[in-house]
Amino acid sequence: MTKPKRYLVTSALPYANGPLHIGHLAGAYLPADIFVRFLRMKGEDVVFVCGSDEHGAAITLRAKSEGIEPQDVVDKYDALIKETFEKVGVAFDIYHRTSSELHHETAQDFFRVLNDKGEFEKKTSEQYYDPEAKQFLADRYITGTCPKCGHEEAYGDQCENCGSTLSPTDLINPKSKLSGGTLELKQTTHWYLPMDKYEEWLRPWIVDGKLDGEEHHDPKEWKQHVLGQCKSWLDGGLQARAMTRDLSWGVDVPQELEGSEGKKLYVWLDAPIGYISATKQWAKDKGKDWETYWKDEETELVHFIGKDNIVFHCIIFPIMLKAHGEYVLPKNVPANQFLNLESKKISTSRNWAIWVHEFVEEFKDRPDLLDTLRYYMIATMPENKDSEFTWKGFQEANNSDLKGKLANFVHRVFVLSHKFWNGEVPSFNTELEIACSAEVDKTSTYAKETDEILFHLERLSNFIKKYEFRSALKEFIRIAELGNRSLQNNAPWALIKTDEEATKTVMNVNLQIVVALSIAAKPFIPGTSDRMRSLLNLPEVQVGDLDKFIKDLKSYSPTLSSGHTLNKSYHLFTDLKDDWVASQIQKLEDSQETAIEYPELKEEATFDDFQKMDLRTATILTAEKVKKAKKLLKLTVDLGFEQRTVVSGIAEYYSPEDIIGKKVVLLANLAPRKIRGVESQGMILMAENEKGELGFVSPTVGMTNGFTVR
Ligand code: 2FM
Ligand code: ZN
Repeated sequence: MTKPKRYLVTSALPYANGPLHIGHLAGAYLPADIFVRFLRMKGEDVVFVCGSDEHGAAITLRAKSEGIEPQDVVDKYDALIKETFEKVGVAFDIYHRTSSELHHETAQDFFRVLNDKGEFEKKTSEQYYDPEAKQFLADRYITGTCPKCGHEEAYGDQCENCGSTLSPTDLINPKSKLSGGTLELKQTTHWYLPMDKYEEWLRPWIVDGKLDGEEHHDPKEWKQHVLGQCKSWLDGGLQARAMTRDLSWGVDVPQELEGSEGKKLYVWLDAPIGYISATKQWAKDKGKDWETYWKDEETELVHFIGKDNIVFHCIIFPIMLKAHGEYVLPKNVPANQFLNLESKKISTSRNWAIWVHEFVEEFKDRPDLLDTLRYYMIATMPENKDSEFTWKGFQEANNSDLKGKLANFVHRVFVLSHKFWNGEVPSFNTELEIACSAEVDKTSTYAKETDEILFHLERLSNFIKKYEFRSALKEFIRIAELGNRSLQNNAPWALIKTDEEATKTVMNVNLQIVVALSIAAKPFIPGTSDRMRSLLNLPEVQVGDLDKFIKDLKSYSPTLSSGHTLNKSYHLFTDLKDDWVASQIQKLEDSQETAIEYPELKEEATFDDFQKMDLRTATILTAEKVKKAKKLLKLTVDLGFEQRTVVSGIAEYYSPEDIIGKKVVLLANLAPRKIRGVESQGMILMAENEKGELGFVSPTVGMTNGFTVR
């Protein structure tokens, strides 16, 4: 036997700030699980690690919004996520946590090594400080008015209204999201990783797959969209990036270092080191040596992630590993793109998602549906471009492939075997030429049919090795199609009346196809593989079974031997009806309605504050688009006693012709301001819903212009 190849496979550590949805599953977990199950079946030496990412702004914001401590947040979601993975069959060797002591130590040691080697630069800069919360604020904790579009709730890193990338100092009137108070600029010192300094080896590593002049990997085996993103980062010029933060939640910067007080490691430094600490914990539990998996050049390190994590895994983490000096670099980073749901982006805040823990709970007594979920997600996996989950597609995959092709075939073969030979596997004759009704081939032989099984198994294996899981899955279903075709062409239910020997050979082939399916199913739909094995009265698929099956079939001594007794059959999958699909869609829509996030009430205002505003009834007289401004309309409004020009950001919701004559309320004593060169003399009141859609606040018919609203 050849020596097993060593693999270390990682899946992105999910933030422990919420449950998993199907987009997560399709992105970084299912593909890794298929790959690993396949390698295990082949007998390779593989360790599959993951764990909760328990630091970062996402966690602290969640804690704040729920009014609990960050530790409570991570404890709750770590447990939920871990259990969800188990139930949906994503079989890590270890699911670890970045809040563990081992991880804190590992991350600090790593940081120390880089620091001792002089890989960091310490730099002082001015950053926003919240005097009330007594802390420096990360970009996401700062909101203010966007300098580009005037949107008042822009974040320190981005304006979600106009999409501009911002830095906190760009914001007008920046405020703290923590305390709501105003901010001060204060000097702070951090450790920076000068990424530009590593470009010399990083570029050839990414572009040519060469590391220090030696072949490291074949860049043609990397996905185009991954390489594309990496190259555009390189072309855009790498910059120094701060590797520490002024935060209260995270891994401490090693305390012996000068200036470490109050500083935590940047979450994107600490998280990927989580792969290392997880491996350490696994090795400790199993009595193995973690270092061979990270430091021996023969290890293939493969990171499964979603596309939003590409830069961290292809640029920043490799720089860290190389700078450290002892670690191997990833051989491949087969990132997936995003999965949409029923034509819309999956959104946690709008609750437009299928939550995996809810699905597994609802269908915990339906092993078939758990595998339909996996099957359909693989069939629509966003391998190279964004893809889409629809309940209709789910039904189609279930009814047409799993029920129509797989389950029907298996059931028919079992029913016939029981009917003809009481469930005993029949013998076969390799010399026979069997007449059949196929269009092309008029005859079949044992060799020809078994060759086809081998052909698809080989293709399936090759696709999995290339991370092309959708294509691999198609080969799986082609094996079922092969079986259906064989039944169709050979019609054993008729053949038995004239030629029992030929029937036995035909049915033996079909039973070998069922065995092939039970093996091929293992990486994709492991529960179904196990159920098929139990029908076949064989143990669950084990290490080496694929290779053994191929070898035995080639030498005409198949794994499933003649005379073996089969168990009684049942339908592995059943049809999903249209009303079932409709109920799932309805559930999705309903859950969205209950999940509206209402904006927080603003600070209390006095009656005097309100009295300062002069609100008047008015009518829109004219409306036109403002050139080069998608969102703006220039309006003339009639106040009865005078007319005003007002620029209003409603063009995305109303076209000029629709609003002429519309009755509105105008804030008439707002200081005039120039917007795109036009002086705007007031503001029209609009209501905004949770989707950001705008609607007029209108006086009732009969109320003429110019009167006070109070
Ligand atoms: O994007 C995310 O969900 C991150 N928590 C992924 C971390 S991956 C790794 F670096 F740990
Ligand atoms: Zn903006």
